[in-house]
Amino acid sequence: MSLSDSYNNAKQEISETSALNSIERLLKNNGLTVEDIGKINRVSISANPEDTRIVLSPKWESGPSWQPVQQAAPTIVNPKVRQAPSLISSDWKVAVALPDPQIGYRKYEDGTLDPFHDEAAMDVALQIVGLDHGHPLAQIINLGDFLDLPMYGTYEQEANFAHTAQLAINRGHRFLAEQRANAGVDARIILLEGNHDKRLNRFINNNAAAAYGIKVANMPDSWPVLSLQNLLRCEELGVEFIDGYPAAAHWINKRLRAMHGDRANASGSTAAQYANSNPNISTLFGHTHRMEQQSKTVFDRDQAIKSVSFSPGCLCRVDGAVPSVKGGVDVKGQALQYFENWQQGVSVIFFKDGDDDSFHFDQVHIHKGKTMYRGEEILATVDKFGTPLQSSVSAQL
Ligand SMILES: [Fe+2]
Ligand SMILES: [Fe+2]
Repeated sequence: MSLSDSYNNAKQEISETSALNSIERLLKNNGLTVEDIGKINRVSISANPEDTRIVLSPKWESGPSWQPVQQAAPTIVNPKVRQAPSLISSDWKVAVALPDPQIGYRKYEDGTLDPFHDEAAMDVALQIVGLDHGHPLAQIINLGDFLDLPMYGTYEQEANFAHTAQLAINRGHRFLAEQRANAGVDARIILLEGNHDKRLNRFINNNAAAAYGIKVANMPDSWPVLSLQNLLRCEELGVEFIDGYPAAAHWINKRLRAMHGDRANASGSTAAQYANSNPNISTLFGHTHRMEQQSKTVFDRDQAIKSVSFSPGCLCRVDGAVPSVKGGVDVKGQALQYFENWQQGVSVIFFKDGDDDSFHFDQVHIHKGKTMYRGEEILATVDKFGTPLQSSVSAQL
């Protein structure tokens, strides 16, 4: 029975019973309840059924009552004004690689947030970005798995992932804003898509294909509303998002390629796999969460061809907080302590462009919120949850 037929029937019945009963019957015949009514726009009830008018708006017409995922709140950034480098430049430039923070949270019953990312390690990484490296800071390269997004993955779900996607997007945006603030306005900030970042895109494509790629009205050049480019406000911060994992790659110079990576050798060297499969180029990769380095030299008729493959590790927590194959949660959904075979760190790369495609790099270990780099002790100003620390107690993390 169509809605108009139901309505006409209801009008007929108005003369037999009360008008209000007829309204209820009209709703019932259409599978609706009073709770489905969002708004009554106009009611005109008369003894004559022909004069009865009811204009309703359903609840869903004004959108969901809960807040769907949306862009991070905008951030005001005051980029650092970097001093001229202390060393003579000689065309050397600097890139800092930031691996796998896996930004995200569990939200426990009492509202407590348990982060996957390590705020202390990220704080130390930002301090390294802000150092005077002796040469101009040209690039910050986020190596992917920037967000964890477990709620959009295909692995086991946990109740405590609920209501955390927006929090992760907000924290991710803030981490990019902090990078811009420490790097100054001239450095490129690259964000390579990792397999975890790709989860949102894949989730929409698999479960709501009709919503895939939708944009704000009359803005054909804008990013899709549910893309990370839009949600993280990448353009506002001058962040270059390179998607298309696993092929997504950024060439730091002619010899050195950065990518998230799709290999993880649990019992051996992933760096050796990259070195063996691509000995003609050098590869900077993430994904394994392990600090690694492997060199390989091959040759042609005229010369030796030396390559190196390396990973700076990760910036996520390494104590069982990140959802993983070996981690676990108790009956309350709280993550148990488990020390993964993962290491935290960043890579600082010195490189030249053009035909002189030289590069050298430092692997900077971060452990328990601190590091030593170029003779300087760098301590986190927050603990792994983000709580501010007095510098005197930071070593007790
Ligand atoms: Fe990762
Ligand atoms: Fe990954």
